[in-house]
Amino acid sequence: MKKRADLLIRNVGQMVTCAGNSQQPKLAEYMQDIGLIEDGAVAVAGDKIIAADTTNNILNQVEVTSDTVVVDASGKTVLPGLVDPHTHLVFGGSREHELELKLKGVPYLDILAGGGGILNTVRATRKASKEELVESGVKYAWQMLMQGTTTAEAKSGYGLTIEDELKQLEAIKEIGDNQPLELVPTFLGAHAIPEDYKEQPDKYVELVVTEMLPEVKARGLAEFCDIFCEDKVFTLEQSRRVLEAAKNLGFKLKIHADEIVALGGSQLAAELGATSADHLLVIPDEAISMMAEQQVVAIVLPGTTFNLREDHYAPARRMIGAGVPVALATDFNPGSCPTNNLQLIMTIASLYLGMTPAEVINSVTINAAHAIDRASIVGSIEVGKQADMVIFDAPNYRYLPYRFGTNLVEKVIKKGKIVVGGKNNAKTGAVRTEF
Ligand code: NIG
Ligand code: FE
Repeated sequence: MKKRADLLIRNVGQMVTCAGNSQQPKLAEYMQDIGLIEDGAVAVAGDKIIAADTTNNILNQVEVTSDTVVVDASGKTVLPGLVDPHTHLVFGGSREHELELKLKGVPYLDILAGGGGILNTVRATRKASKEELVESGVKYAWQMLMQGTTTAEAKSGYGLTIEDELKQLEAIKEIGDNQPLELVPTFLGAHAIPEDYKEQPDKYVELVVTEMLPEVKARGLAEFCDIFCEDKVFTLEQSRRVLEAAKNLGFKLKIHADEIVALGGSQLAAELGATSADHLLVIPDEAISMMAEQQVVAIVLPGTTFNLREDHYAPARRMIGAGVPVALATDFNPGSCPTNNLQLIMTIASLYLGMTPAEVINSVTINAAHAIDRASIVGSIEVGKQADMVIFDAPNYRYLPYRFGTNLVEKVIKKGKIVVGGKNNAKTGAVRTEF
């Protein structure tokens, strides 16, 4: 018996499925394989994909009734919903004043050491109520959806007290419950050393390990634990202490590693079996081999490198060549990378990391899903997966990183529902139009 389709997207100019072996991220030369179907179609029942094939073939596989919503996507490109595996979505305030400091040549870590940077956002986030954080977070989440992102990781890390970290994590949960972007929560209590612990950083680490982590676990508020392992922030030893404690409690692990100074964070990620190590601008060759061996996903954040005006990007080509699974993310945050637009990251990755359009696309879909342990649910257009898709007003997939700075999204489908570009709005409008 043929299954009835609730939604059918047909005549897709180029349907990029990113399908493959969902047990494993795309590696090395397989990153060129995007599972392209010309004149493609995808059928959905409820929130799941029930068929993905050519338009001709699909009509033999599913039943289309007068209730089926049919979308003609001739001349368009369809991708799996984009996955952003590294964001700091919830924060108070903003830091546009840092732009002029940057132009004067003040380094990012010096702004932080002077009590600004992350610590500035910490003050604003502590001041904000949970409701205010939810309100701004929902706004940012809709911006992301309208730009094609359907799943994102979201970190705490601007509270740095137990109450304020819990407030941020609860806000992440509420944001996830109040709009369609699906969120995967990460506890980043060790994001900076709070000002009142400046002279005794180990005491703060102690607080993270003995009080914050167990409380976050008990309340089920985070799936991952992350730490900013960096010169003048958390040392390698402190990072090991936090991540080992988190692992023992059952958290999966992430680490901000090798961004400015190589302290050994990416080796630690491999040693502890972390899901990802992120940034990696100055990753040593030895760590590349270790990450390939352990299949730790390298989350590369080229928007941050661009915005900090660094002169060297993460060695994405070397990592791909060595068989490290590579994913891309925005790093959306109010300081080092204030964009939540993954389409822009795709262009920067192509131009400055030297990644091909196909590699870039796998890095913001299936490999990004692996980077947050969601690859069995999202990241590709395959039967049985959640029906998360984006229709781009683009004649082919190469057009996406090429046409930077314009939002090419025409429609976004999340769990089988058209959440952006629905029919009650103008062609490029959103179901939600007010912010
Ligand atoms: O990933 N590197 C540390 N944390 C963020 C920046 C946060 C901020 O500047 O507020 C990052 O780049
Ligand atoms: Fe970050």
